[in-house]
Amino acid sequence: MKSTQINIDPLQVIDRVSPNVFGGFIEHLGRCVYQGIYDPGSALADEDGFRVDVMTALKELQMTIMRYPGGNFASGYHWEDGIGPREKRPTVRELAWQSIETNAFGTDEFMRLCRKMDWEPMVAVNLGTGTPEEARNWVEYCNSEIGTRYANLRSINGAKKPYGVRYWCLGNEMDGPWQLGHVPAKEYAIRAQQAAKMMKDCDPVIETIACGSSGAFMPTFPAWDREVMEYIGPLSNYISLHRYVRNDDNDPFKFFGTGAKVDRQIEIIDATCRYVQALNKASERNFLCFDEWNIWYKNMTMDGKGKFAPSLIEEEYNFEDALVTGQFLNSFIRHADVVKIANLAQVVNVIAPLKTRGDELLKQTTFHAFKLYSERKEGDSLRLGISGDFFDADEGPVPCLDTSCIYSKDQRNLSLFMINLSPTDKVSVTANLFGLEVERVVGQILHHKDLKAVNTFEKQDTVVAKDFTDISSTLDSLQGELPPASLVRLDVSIS
Ligand code: AHR
Repeated sequence: MKSTQINIDPLQVIDRVSPNVFGGFIEHLGRCVYQGIYDPGSALADEDGFRVDVMTALKELQMTIMRYPGGNFASGYHWEDGIGPREKRPTVRELAWQSIETNAFGTDEFMRLCRKMDWEPMVAVNLGTGTPEEARNWVEYCNSEIGTRYANLRSINGAKKPYGVRYWCLGNEMDGPWQLGHVPAKEYAIRAQQAAKMMKDCDPVIETIACGSSGAFMPTFPAWDREVMEYIGPLSNYISLHRYVRNDDNDPFKFFGTGAKVDRQIEIIDATCRYVQALNKASERNFLCFDEWNIWYKNMTMDGKGKFAPSLIEEEYNFEDALVTGQFLNSFIRHADVVKIANLAQVVNVIAPLKTRGDELLKQTTFHAFKLYSERKEGDSLRLGISGDFFDADEGPVPCLDTSCIYSKDQRNLSLFMINLSPTDKVSVTANLFGLEVERVVGQILHHKDLKAVNTFEKQDTVVAKDFTDISSTLDSLQGELPPASLVRLDVSIS
C-alpha cells in the first residue's frame, strides 16, 4: 500500500479552467465524417443527415469547441468545393489519406452541426496547397454581413446571418514532411503571417492559432515554435501543440508517465512563448492550444486506397488508455493559466471515444474517462500540495497519484481528480482542506483489474464509471483508498 497526502487551499488559484480545453476534432478522414457523424443513408439520421445516436452520445461528453476539417486533410482542402448545391460539388482525390472526397459535407453542414450541438466552431485553413487569400475568403464567407461576394454566397446557400467563427488555425502540422505543402519554419511563418493579416483585416475579432511543432519528438522542437511566433508576432494568438502517445513496449511504467511528459511539453512551449514575447517586446503573449491529443499506436492503417470513407486508424481503446486520457486532462487543468484550448482527436470512428458499426454505436473506455472530467469543468484550477510515495516512471519518479482539482466558489463545489498510476499497489489518500468545510462528498471511479479490458459492441459496459464508496470525510479532510490503476473523481459540496 502506498500513501499520498494532498493539501487543498482555495486561495492557491492557478487560473480559471478554460471550458475550451474540453474540445473535440472532426476531420475528413476515414469514417469520421461519412458513416460517423454524417450518414444520411442511416435509419438513425436526422433531417440534416446527422446521426442522432452519435450526437446524443457526444452531448454526454459536453464538448465545447470543435476543430474542423483537419488535420492533414486541411492542407489539401479547397473550401469552395464543399459549399452550394450538392450535385454541383466536385468529387475529388484526397491525397492526405489517399481517399475519395465527395464534398457532401462542407462548411454549411459543419456550422449547422455546431449549432445543434452547441459547439464553438474552430476552422483550420489550408496553408499547404491553399493561398492566404483563399483563407481570407473563407473568413468572409463565415463571418461577414451580406453585401460582398463570399458573404452573399453564404446567404444564397441558406445562411443569411454570419456564423461568427472566432477560432482559426493557420494550417496544420506544417513542420512535418508528411504534410501537403510542408515547408521550413521561415517559409511557413511568412505564409501564416500573410494569411493571418488578411483574415484579421476581414474580421478583426477572430483569434488565430499558428502551427507549432507536431510533437515533442520533432527534430525542430521547439526551435520551430520560436521562429514561427517570433515572425508572426501579434497576428497569432495561440501556438498549437500535438501529442499522440503509444504503449508499444506494453510497459505501464513508461505509458503512465504520460502526465509528466505532457506537463514538460506544455512547460517548454510556455517558456518559448514567454521568451518570444520578451524578444518581440510584445504586450501580449501567445497561449497554448493543444489541438490534437490522444493515444494512437495500435491501428496505423492510413492508406485509403482510393476509397470513399475507408476504415482508417480505428483504434480500439482499453482500460489503460482511459487512464492516460485522464492524465492528459489533468495536465491541461494543472496548466490552466496557459492551456486555453485542447481538442481530443477525434470524436467518432477515427482514434475516437465512439465507434459506429452499421446502425450500432459503441462507447469506448476513453469515452467514460473524458466524461468524468467534462461534466465537472467549471471553476478555478487549484495548485495542490502533494507529498507521499512516488511512481517510478521511465523518466524518473513522479507522484504516484496524478491529480488535478477544480473549485467553483459560486457552486460551492470542488472536484478532485486522482489517478493511481501504480498497476500493483493501492494508494491511501488523505486530502486536507484549508478554509473550506466539507458538507458532503460523493465519488465516481473508473477501474478494471485488467489493464487491457475493452468495451465491445457485444459487451458495452466492461469499463464504465461506477460509484466510489471507499471514502470518508471530516469537516476539513477526506480519506480514501484507491485501487491499483484507477481513476477517481471526488465531488465535494462545500458548506
Ligand atoms: O488526427 C489524425 C492526424 O494526426 C491528423 O490529421 C494530423 O494532424 C495528425 O498527424
